[in-house]
Amino acid sequence: MLERTAGLKQKFHDLYHSEARIFRAPGRVNLIGEHTDYNDGFVMPAAIDLYTCVAIAPRDDRKLLIHSANYSESREFSLDDPDPLPINHWSDYPRGVALALEQRGYRLRGADLLIKGDVPIGGGLSSSASVEVATCLAMVETSGLSIDRTEIARICQSAENDFVGMRCGIMDQFISCCGRAGHAMVLDCRSLDYRLLPLPEEVKLIICNTMVKHELADSQYNARRQECATGAGHLARRLSGVRSLRDVTMDDLKRYSGDLSDTVYRRCRHVVSENARVTRAAEALGGGDLNEFGRLMAASHLSLRDDYEVSCAELDLMVELASKVEGVYGARMTGGGFGGCTINLVEAGRIEEFERTIRQGYKETMGRMPDIYTCVAACGAEEILSG
Ligand code: GLA
Repeated sequence: MLERTAGLKQKFHDLYHSEARIFRAPGRVNLIGEHTDYNDGFVMPAAIDLYTCVAIAPRDDRKLLIHSANYSESREFSLDDPDPLPINHWSDYPRGVALALEQRGYRLRGADLLIKGDVPIGGGLSSSASVEVATCLAMVETSGLSIDRTEIARICQSAENDFVGMRCGIMDQFISCCGRAGHAMVLDCRSLDYRLLPLPEEVKLIICNTMVKHELADSQYNARRQECATGAGHLARRLSGVRSLRDVTMDDLKRYSGDLSDTVYRRCRHVVSENARVTRAAEALGGGDLNEFGRLMAASHLSLRDDYEVSCAELDLMVELASKVEGVYGARMTGGGFGGCTINLVEAGRIEEFERTIRQGYKETMGRMPDIYTCVAACGAEEILSG
C-alpha cells in the first residue's frame, strides 16, 4: 500500500512537477437489497478493499487537468465552461462531480489530478462511484471546503444521474463515503439513516467476476427504474400513504395489482419482497444466523433472475456452482446485474476449495477464467497522504 502511494506520488510529480495530496474511495459489494435503493428501500452493502486513488494539487486558475493512469489519457477542462456536455468517456465522472459541486454553489479551485483505480471497471463493484467519491473529496479538500459525507454522496449521485445519464440510486456513493472496516451497513435509502453490523471473523467475502458486461445494461437499468415508477404510481392512486414501492406490502400488492401488466407486477414483487429480505437478513446477521442469511441471499438471486430479470447465464452459473460447495453460506449476483460479479459468503477454511470449483466449472462451461477477489469490509473515503 505504502509502495503504491509512493508510486502514485512520484507519477504525479513526473506529470505535473508538484507535490500531491492523495485521497482514496473504496468500491463496494452489496450483500443483499438489490434494486431497492431507487425505490426508497433498504440495502446492505459493505465497502471493499479495492480503491480508486486520486492524487491532486491546486492550480492558480480555474482549469482541471485530469490524467487517468488506467486509460493512460489526459483531459483538460475549464470550470467556467458555459456549456459542458458529457462525451461518453471516463472523464465524464470527475467532470460531472465538479459541475455538480459548482451547481450547488461550492466554488472550486482549479487542480491537477491523477486518477488510478483497482476496482475492476464495469465489474459491478462500483468503480464509477469510487471515482466520483474520491475526486469529489479531493476537489472539496483542495478548495478548502468542508462538506458532510451524506451531501458528498448526494452530489456524486447527481453527477451520475444528471451528467453521465445513469439513473442510479444512492447506495454505491453512500457506502463509498461512509463504510466502516469489518462491517456491513443496513441503509434506509429514504431517510439515509443507517446501522453498521459487524461481519463475523469466520466468514469471508469472496467476489467472483463473470468477466462479462452485457450490452444494454445501463438502458435496462433505467427501464427497470421506469417500470418501478409505473407500479408505484398505480398503487399510489389506490392506496393512501404510498410514495414509492417502499411503502407497499405484499398484501397491498396482491390486492391492488388488478390492471398492472404482468411485467410491472413482477418488478414490484421483487422490490417488495427484497425489502423484506433485507430486514430479515439484518436480524439474521445480528443474531449470528449465517445459514438463514445465506437462504435469504439465495431467494434474492432467484427473485432478481425471475421477477426482475437482471441476471444472465454467467451469473446464474456462478451462483449454481457456488451453492454446491461445502462451507458456502450464501451466493447471489451483486450490483445492477447483466454481468459483473457474484458475492459469496464462505467459511474461512473453505476458500481454496471454493475457488478451485468455481474456476474449473466456469471455465468448462463459459470458456474463460473468472477473476476471484477475497475482500475485507473496508472503511469509507479518506485522505491517505497529506501534501
Ligand atoms: C447499481 C446502482 C445502484 C443500485 C444497484 C442495484 O449498482 O448504481 O444504485 O441500484 O445497481 O441494487
